[in-house]
Amino acid sequence: MKDILQELEDRRTLARLGGGQRRIDAQHARGKLTARERIELLLDEGSFEEFDMFVAHRSTDFGMEADRPYGDGVVTGWGTINGRMVYVFSQDFTVFGGSLSETHAQKICKIMDMAMQNGAPVIGLNDSGGARIQEGVASLAGYADVFQRNIMASGVVPQISVIMGPCAGGAVYSPAMTDFIFMVKDTSYMFVTGPDVVKTVTNEVVTAEQLGGASTHTKKSSVADGAFEDDVEALTEIRRLFDFLPLNNRDKAPVRPFFDDPARIEESLDTLIPDNPNQPYDMKELIVKVADEGDFYEIQKDFAGNIITGFIRIEGRTVGVVANQPMVLAGCLDIDSSRKAARFVRFCDAFEIPILTFVDVPGFLPGTGQEYGGVIKHGAKLLFAYGEATVPKVTVITRKAYGGAYDVMASKHLRGDFNYAWPTAEIAVMGAKGAVEILYRSELGDPDKIAARTKDYEDRFANPFVAAEKGFIDEVIQPHSTRKRVARAFASLRTKRLSNPWKKHDNIPL
Ligand code: HXC
Repeated sequence: MKDILQELEDRRTLARLGGGQRRIDAQHARGKLTARERIELLLDEGSFEEFDMFVAHRSTDFGMEADRPYGDGVVTGWGTINGRMVYVFSQDFTVFGGSLSETHAQKICKIMDMAMQNGAPVIGLNDSGGARIQEGVASLAGYADVFQRNIMASGVVPQISVIMGPCAGGAVYSPAMTDFIFMVKDTSYMFVTGPDVVKTVTNEVVTAEQLGGASTHTKKSSVADGAFEDDVEALTEIRRLFDFLPLNNRDKAPVRPFFDDPARIEESLDTLIPDNPNQPYDMKELIVKVADEGDFYEIQKDFAGNIITGFIRIEGRTVGVVANQPMVLAGCLDIDSSRKAARFVRFCDAFEIPILTFVDVPGFLPGTGQEYGGVIKHGAKLLFAYGEATVPKVTVITRKAYGGAYDVMASKHLRGDFNYAWPTAEIAVMGAKGAVEILYRSELGDPDKIAARTKDYEDRFANPFVAAEKGFIDEVIQPHSTRKRVARAFASLRTKRLSNPWKKHDNIPL
């Protein structure tokens, strides 16, 4: 009996060594942790339960039958993050470069199936040379099996991808279909075709980092939602994000203990809006001052800075925040910001996370670049996302809410539940200057007349009261009481029930 027990331990030790000490050392030398070390950091101590530790590939081509390491390049299983269940796979670069074989794919599919059945999120730690070259189409089939599960799990359980090494070719499409992608700076990259192919086809010379590194995907392509300095920071931050999310679409996000008075008054907000309407201010200040303990988890912070998206808690409960940022492009909506915010709003709605919207938007960004790029379709994504969302929606207009952008930003007309405005709000078709130039074109030669007309227009429209008279604004509130009002609004909406008409699925303008 003792021998048998010992044999199990010996086999486990062998499995834990993956591709061997030499390759583990090489992984460390690159500043990367191993697949198992990553899981240990991600999950609560001692909570990891492994599946399929002894699975080995079945390939017999290219002499593969002589090299059948346990685990086949991926560590899979489940554990907890702050006590809440999560399924995880972590690709092991020390075994065939973490490449995906038929059996490697089956291991991932197994935990994805369990995650769906048991209603818990999936976190994938990606570090892989792509399709296992020796296996050919069997590997491609394995990828497609994973893709199909990503699609079925979308909107059912949260899926998070962390790119911690290479991720190339069709392999990028599994992360691309998950809810969030995070990358590690300098050690990870993602691209569909690598630098060599790019050189051959388009004659462009780029490095892997330039083509698909963390900076490219967080700042230019918006494929990734954030980037971290190293493996340790990435895994710690994923734990933090996980705490904001529900386990599945039938569960509520966790309620965390909070030590911040929901009725906290913030006098400083009374002077947040500058006297000059064209002067920017930092909308993040408002978000942080409304949040429990100032804790804000920003999503896509390096892309489309004219809109801010991320998670806060109010009375311990997760709230998704979308806010125009006057500091960037005056807070205009454009293609990038509409896409960014639309995707975020849809995530929140899919997982029953209430949405708080702060509005200071002078309109859509004009120009051929925007029109040729399809701002009509992309802007419609945000409009559509807000309009279809059935979660509690609370909106606060701090300053400008002009034109179509007023409608888009979670207005009353898109089933906003509580639509507040600060006294500094200006709700109009456009700014006074633009309006007067159109309405009184014949008087443009007379500055005095134009000044009088502008003042007239401002007096009439540069305030929240016309909208409030019509009931489009539920209440004009004091800036200092924003946290209290917003907290009470969300508290009253905890029992909200609203559903859309039956349909197979909608046809959001993709
Ligand atoms: C089998 C692979 C492998 C692969 C790497 N290895 N990629 N084995 N299949 N795809 C093995 C290497 O043989 C090596 O084994 C070990 O992993 C580490 O690889 P190195 O090349 O030494 O490491 P490094 O220099 O860091 O380069 C990493 C790499 C490179 C950039 C990922 O290995 C690479 O370019 N690999 C091929 C990538 C590729 O073309 N994959 C297919 C893409 S198409 P030893 O024994 O020496 O340790 C694709 C389609 C998916 O993925 C389709 C989905 C629909």
